[in-house]
Amino acid sequence: MTEQPGQGQTLDNLLTESRTFPPSAEFAAQANATEAMYDQAATDREAFWAEQAGQLRWDTQWDQVLDWSDAPYAKWFVGGRLNVAVNCVDRHVDAGNGDRVAIHWEGEPGDGRTITYAELQREVAKTANALTSLGLKAGDRVAIYLPMLPEAIFSMLACARLGLTHSVVFGGFSAEALRSRIDDAEAKLVITADGQYRRGKPAPLKAAVDEAVARTPSIEKVLVVRRTGIDVEWTDERDVWWHDLVDGQSDTHTAEAFDAEHPLFILYTSGTTGRPKGILHTSGGFLTQTAYTVRNVFDLKPESDVYWCTADIGWVTGHSYIVYGPLANGATQVVYEGTPNTPHEGRHWEIVQKYGVTIYYTAPTLIRTFMKWGNDIPAKFDLSSLRVLGSVGEPINPEAWVWYRETIGSGRTPVVDTWWQTETGAIMISPLPGVTHAKPGSAQRPLPGISAKVVDDKGNEVGKGGGGYLVLDQPWPSMLRGIWGDDQRYRETYWSRFGEQGYYFAGDGAKYDADGDVWLLGRVDDVMNVSGHRISTTEVESALVSHPTVAEAAVVGATDPTTGQGIVAFVILRGGVAEDEAKGEAAIKALRDHVAKEIGPIAKPRQIMVVPELPKTRSGKIMRRLLRDVAENREIGDVTTLADSSVMDLISSGLKGSG
Ligand code: WTA
Repeated sequence: MTEQPGQGQTLDNLLTESRTFPPSAEFAAQANATEAMYDQAATDREAFWAEQAGQLRWDTQWDQVLDWSDAPYAKWFVGGRLNVAVNCVDRHVDAGNGDRVAIHWEGEPGDGRTITYAELQREVAKTANALTSLGLKAGDRVAIYLPMLPEAIFSMLACARLGLTHSVVFGGFSAEALRSRIDDAEAKLVITADGQYRRGKPAPLKAAVDEAVARTPSIEKVLVVRRTGIDVEWTDERDVWWHDLVDGQSDTHTAEAFDAEHPLFILYTSGTTGRPKGILHTSGGFLTQTAYTVRNVFDLKPESDVYWCTADIGWVTGHSYIVYGPLANGATQVVYEGTPNTPHEGRHWEIVQKYGVTIYYTAPTLIRTFMKWGNDIPAKFDLSSLRVLGSVGEPINPEAWVWYRETIGSGRTPVVDTWWQTETGAIMISPLPGVTHAKPGSAQRPLPGISAKVVDDKGNEVGKGGGGYLVLDQPWPSMLRGIWGDDQRYRETYWSRFGEQGYYFAGDGAKYDADGDVWLLGRVDDVMNVSGHRISTTEVESALVSHPTVAEAAVVGATDPTTGQGIVAFVILRGGVAEDEAKGEAAIKALRDHVAKEIGPIAKPRQIMVVPELPKTRSGKIMRRLLRDVAENREIGDVTTLADSSVMDLISSGLKGSG
């Protein structure tokens, strides 16, 4: 039993308390994870990972677990060969589980489809045969720009089956964002849909592909799933309907094994410069760690659990924890197409009740949104099937953590706060349900087999109670294998800051508490975290500056009670643009829309302020800290390092009255 905070005490005070939620005896007794795993992994890390990899089906056994001689490029399970799709699909059918449901797909308008492992095998085979008929060969890149449809999963698995490297682009990204990602990877095929359902209405999707593909030389074909039935433009020699090409293919396919280090996918993520980075992941190590974490962090029992990760496949969470990790374990899972409040704010809980979801994995921003919508909404549904709750994407505030456990988990379920990144490929720091005495707000401890440290500026580990930078001091199986086509950027971004020690720099601030547990404190670079999505300040600044009225822009992430951070932009107008006119509502809206067009609606600034100057240091660096003070309505901090200390007065006085 845990105590409840007393009257008048806010739950956020828990941050300074060391209250713990120990696992129940019943949960601990049946848990996959054990305390002994920490020791076992510490004694012989490579043997530990070899044991995890051994749970997959390998066509050729590896002869070396880890080759780190070419650091910072790791090779895991050297010499081993496997087929990732066979591991996620065929293996379970061969084991006699073909009738088990792989996917309960729930469409936003209320339609649905139940897909067993045997059916998944046939669908993936047909898709693979279709991709082969288009002339695609192992090593080619395929862009996938699809909503949350079963075809998105068939496409990813068909690529994996054929050794094609997929690059999934989130369906909320703009034509321009899609174009730059297609170009960078030189993709030959893009798989898309006519449209997608968003908040009850069909919205076009292929139109953005048409716009992007008109300006990319590498695309040969566009494969189009019919989802909404909306009108689309058609280019006969280039566009192919999914139902015309895939449906008639043979539903058997003989898979080939690929090297453990064969590129599985590229996924673009924001960095500190304007250009997104193509994070490269390979096969054997990635599948080993995603599968291992699903077993141990979510305590998955494939025979009885119904798992649901609410992410979109456009993000890494969808790759690792909808597609590869759960399917490698033969899980039964829910895949939901739409938004959480369509047609009503209880949609998620209705789905939990309908399918008897046992494991639910979501983001703090959504948990806070559910809190805002009120307790009476989940109270209308039977949530008693839930037994593990997970969180990912940003630090979870203790108040939201406790609400999640009490209101959604009936005060009974373990909550696992999982820290990881696109780059790490799989969960790295997290409690283990059934083992860890959970602390609300802390990701606590690196998983067995994983090593992380909090270090100071010089790379020295800080002591208990100390804060600094989070680093990963040992290679791990699902680590990125570089940035697509940019070796220098890979070394500079992740490996130069603590180059002497050879540590991977994660870009997150962190601290140890008195027990040595890790608390994540948010990004220490110019990357914002808006609703769990990574967006770089520079990317939004470049988008703003590309508008004809803007001369200069500075963007900061301001604390936001629901989205974690909100994007606030400060812009200087070009000479000749009448300021009053540009400050007007219509002009501000035009700028916000321009950012949505350049990057995607998720990057739209919450607020845009027109200012006469920006605060800069003598070397010309924008002092975002001061702008954050303005954005968060705080007293302006220390201005002594500004080149011109009167600038802040100018900004503040200009903003008074401008609303
Ligand atoms: C943040 C998402 C605190 C962090 C899987 C990281 C978190 C970035 C947590 C990666 C967590 C993710 N606690 N912060 N549990 N999980 N983050 O690449 O800043 O979209 O660096 O991967 O999200 O975001 P990405």
